[in-house]
Amino acid sequence: MKKTIVTLAGLALIALSGAAFADEQIAIGKKIYDRAFGRGCGTCHDISSNPQLTANIKAGTLTRATFEEVITNGRGGMPKALDEIMKNKAVADAGYGKDQALDALYKYLETK
Ligand code: HEC
Repeated sequence: MKKTIVTLAGLALIALSGAAFADEQIAIGKKIYDRAFGRGCGTCHDISSNPQLTANIKAGTLTRATFEEVITNGRGGMPKALDEIMKNKAVADAGYGKDQALDALYKYLETK
């Protein structure tokens, strides 16, 4: 019985820290989206004639791999954005590397 309670408490803690991590990722992703290039990715992407990132992720046409490729190398009117993302204060404060920063941004866009 005691063991069960300890196990349950442990599971609850794991679930809670998982949720806290997801919240942190989304918060950092939002800061990147709002602040990159001074005015944020939305300066271009909240305009309907440019790719709608959240809609494309939800539709399955913008995979995590394409996302990374376009951000890293740029494409047409889309500037290379990786350096800009890594300069973000929230990313630096969290000690995120490139993959973690892109994961956070993708996760934020999935929920936006
Ligand atoms: C100066 C305007 C501008 C800014 C700022 C900008 N983008 Fe873009 N982005 C574009 C344009 C235009 C395209 C379409 C490029 C093409 O296909 O020719 C694009 C395409 C993309 C794509 C590919 C979308 C798809 O469905 O294939 C991704 C991912 C992307 N941008 C992410 C971002 C992120 C993240 C930021 C902020 C860090 C950002 N962009 C900032 C203009 C911009």
